[in-house]
Amino acid sequence: MSDATDAQNPNQAVTEAEVSEQPVESQESAKNQATTDDPAKKTNETPEEHKRRIRSFVLRTGRMTAGQQRGMDEFWPKWGLTLEQGMIDPKTVFEREAPLVIEIGFGMGHSLFEQANTMRDHDFIGIEVHTPGVGKLLAEAGDAGLTNLRAYEDDAIEILDQCIPDNSVDLLQLFFPDPWHKKRHNKRRIVQAEFVQRVRQKLKVGGRFHMATDWENYAEHMVEVMQVAEGYENTASDGDYVPRPDSRPVTKFEKRGERLGHGVWDIIYRRTG
Ligand SMILES: C[S@@+](CC[C@H](N)C(=O)[O-])C[C@H]1O[C@@H](n2cnc3c(N)ncnc32)[C@H](O)[C@@H]1O
Repeated sequence: MSDATDAQNPNQAVTEAEVSEQPVESQESAKNQATTDDPAKKTNETPEEHKRRIRSFVLRTGRMTAGQQRGMDEFWPKWGLTLEQGMIDPKTVFEREAPLVIEIGFGMGHSLFEQANTMRDHDFIGIEVHTPGVGKLLAEAGDAGLTNLRAYEDDAIEILDQCIPDNSVDLLQLFFPDPWHKKRHNKRRIVQAEFVQRVRQKLKVGGRFHMATDWENYAEHMVEVMQVAEGYENTASDGDYVPRPDSRPVTKFEKRGERLGHGVWDIIYRRTG
């Protein structure tokens, strides 16, 4: 899952060890050139703020399989959402009113597809920067005829800020985020005080923020951040963690981890105000 050298996980095509301390913007040039010459123009940030912002991901120019490319070609025009569309109205997007689930960093979309397929009375929006993963998810969802799933191929921070209305989300999922386990890379972890307040703003009061990780140190970090975060309460009745709820499908990476005796920590907080 978050094993940085896991050959089965294309999300880790660039390992954390390969991430240099060079400015992030130079590592992102491929995507930025593909979208706009001045990425800050897409955001409310000044160009300086955009350059300085520490990202939780490193973009890779991974190859697309034929199936992933088909997902983009056939289904992106119908089910893809973009930053440029600005603030969405979920009711208009899905043409109905249903509980809204957002997943940040869905990777290859295994668990998101399974959820959307089995929970047809919920609407799902996935946000992922990794294009092959978006293609894979859309191919599966399109082939299954799902109408309750949409995807963004962009930085979740910008999508949350500019596209997702406040107080609109019932459940926000962050499953196995990049652990950035080296001390000097810890600052890249997506779970930070500012991020969890951004999430809170998007959740309905009573909505839940579900994190899962297989890195104990990241789990402890998540708990530390959440314990002092304003406007949240832990849903755990005993200690910091909850048993995996049925809503989170077990991935094959997790099953393998379980067999090897690795732990997984689920953390669910509820927005209280
Ligand atoms: C370790 S992978 C886990 C993928 C998946 N959740 C799973 O459990 O297999 C983390 C994923 O988060 C994505 N990611 C990291 N930061 C992101 C961000 N700010 N916006 C969107 N996706 C992001 C990465 O591209 C990567 O695919």
